[in-house]
Amino acid sequence: MATLTQLEYFQERTNQYLLNKLDSLTVNDAKLLEAMRYGLLIGGKRMRPYLAYITGKSLSVNEHDLDGIAAALECIHAYSLLHDDLPAMDDDNLRRGKPTCHIAFDEATAILAGDSLQTLAFDILANHPFSQAVSSKRINLIQQLVKASGYQGMCGGQALDLSATNQTISLAQLETLHALKTGALLEASVLMAAECSQEVTAEEKEHLASFAKLIGLAYQVRDDIIDITSSEEELGKPAGSDIEANKSTYPALLGLQGAQQKADNLYQQALQALHHLPYNTQNLSEFATFIIRRTS
Ligand code: IPE
Ligand code: IPE
Ligand code: MG
Ligand code: MG
Ligand code: MG
Repeated sequence: MATLTQLEYFQERTNQYLLNKLDSLTVNDAKLLEAMRYGLLIGGKRMRPYLAYITGKSLSVNEHDLDGIAAALECIHAYSLLHDDLPAMDDDNLRRGKPTCHIAFDEATAILAGDSLQTLAFDILANHPFSQAVSSKRINLIQQLVKASGYQGMCGGQALDLSATNQTISLAQLETLHALKTGALLEASVLMAAECSQEVTAEEKEHLASFAKLIGLAYQVRDDIIDITSSEEELGKPAGSDIEANKSTYPALLGLQGAQQKADNLYQQALQALHHLPYNTQNLSEFATFIIRRTS
């Protein structure tokens, strides 16, 4: 049997946790449960869970504690995608290589499945059997995910994204938009994992926060680039959809080369932030490299 890479190991660990979670739910409406499964379990790179696991591992957090955090992050992310694809938002018909949830089911079901995955994230954080030390941080963890996903985070960024469609905005405004709609949840992936560590200091957390902010923004800059440079097969979502919808993106403001320069610059700064940490951060720096080179 081929050995699993670390990425595959954590992807499978996340998938297994989410599968078990969905299997344990009593959902009266069969269609709603099917749509939740569809949105959560089919495809996806599981980057936020992976980032939480590798951050936690480098700070000696145990994997069982990280399981709850990773799963909650992915539930929020999956819900954000179901809603992002709706006709009222990006109106896309392909996601993770399959018809989007509102096409496979219907709009109302996709909205409710998204809502249900959102609340499932907080159910997981409220009920996961964390170790005693981490249990005492449960409310902090919930607050961090609230902030990253709601009006101060992802939803706030999505609102700015919609307002900026068919408009020209400044680079500073675009940076805020991207940092919120995508950066906030990636940042939370690092910070929530760090919250579980018994050894990390407040100063080290600040360096981790800088790293997380930089790669969170870089993730969306690269997403904007590959929307233009990758194929639909590679992306598993429509290519060229940002130009078609006249979205405010980094390539739209800076050109493709300028956008990649921005991603490279964020990457260099992210590596600098890691230099301040007295831990083995090789996985985190490799993750940053992956982000700015990814093609899907
Ligand atoms: C896509 O996220 C939407 C963004 C926030 C950029 P991912 O690129 O992580 O998508 P999946 O989870 O692998 O499908
Ligand atoms: C999405 O940004 C950010 C979310 C919060 C879901 P995009 O609209 O660019 O994401 P994709 O390209 O559809 O995955
Ligand atoms: Mg969008
Ligand atoms: Mg979209
Ligand atoms: Mg995109």
